[in-house]
Amino acid sequence: MTEPVELDFSIPSVARMYDYYLGGKDHFAADRAAAEQVLRAFPDTRTMARENRAFLGRAVRHMRRAGVEQFLDLGTGLPAAGNVHEVAGEGSRVVYVDNDPVVAVHGRALLENTGAILLQKDVRKPDSVLAEAADLLDFGTPVGVLFVAILHFIGDEDGAHGIVARFRDRMAPGSYLAITHGTWEEAREDDGVDVYKRTNAPISVRTRAEILRFFDGFELVEPGLVDVAHWRPERPAATDRRLWLTAGVGRRL
Ligand SMILES: C[S@@+](CC[C@H](N)C(=O)[O-])C[C@H]1O[C@@H](n2cnc3c(N)ncnc32)[C@H](O)[C@@H]1O
Repeated sequence: MTEPVELDFSIPSVARMYDYYLGGKDHFAADRAAAEQVLRAFPDTRTMARENRAFLGRAVRHMRRAGVEQFLDLGTGLPAAGNVHEVAGEGSRVVYVDNDPVVAVHGRALLENTGAILLQKDVRKPDSVLAEAADLLDFGTPVGVLFVAILHFIGDEDGAHGIVARFRDRMAPGSYLAITHGTWEEAREDDGVDVYKRTNAPISVRTRAEILRFFDGFELVEPGLVDVAHWRPERPAATDRRLWLTAGVGRRL
């Protein structure tokens, strides 16, 4: 089911800005202008986006090796290299969820005849997402739930920790949770964050301790909560600099 959303292409969309960082083609003038402003404040943003995408692949492969066959990808983004159903491969079931209507259109076109589905829904309404996802996913058996580069778009005023807990409570033991999240050592604001205030999803950067709390009820797998490029890297990191995007994978207890 699709939730009605007003389309206003003068408001930068975080999905299309991310597509721009990754070198995709699905963005408009307002998205590009905002993304360029972020790139001026954080020149490593493109590297961060690519490393985030690479983490997504490593996390899904880790879950697959642990026997997980079904995935719920929350905040899917525009199709890009290494979409979850492609990484998870044959025999997997994948439900994608994103509230951006442009993501929904592109995603559905890509997913035709794949068995994977995309729900145009808001993750801030977890019960509604879970109810529809249950058409394809069996929450009585392990599931991989992915909150990759989305939770910093969900504020404390929306109850971000409570939302993750709603998903956790439906996840069978042996399920996995993957998170990447923008962070600072200390919560603070700056120019890059300011740009996001004008987008369709303002950013809430969180401290490491606040991010760790999303894993309540999970056991973090090695190497724990680390800078995104350092989570089980499969090739040398693109930069030695910190990317300020924290990543972790937890196993449901
Ligand atoms: C930075 S992109 C990340 C895409 C993908 N997960 C990845 O890491 O490659 C964030 C995505 O989250 C989506 N998003 C943000 N807030 C959302 C919400 N409340 N409900 C559903 N999707 C949301 C955006 O539309 C965007 O596509």
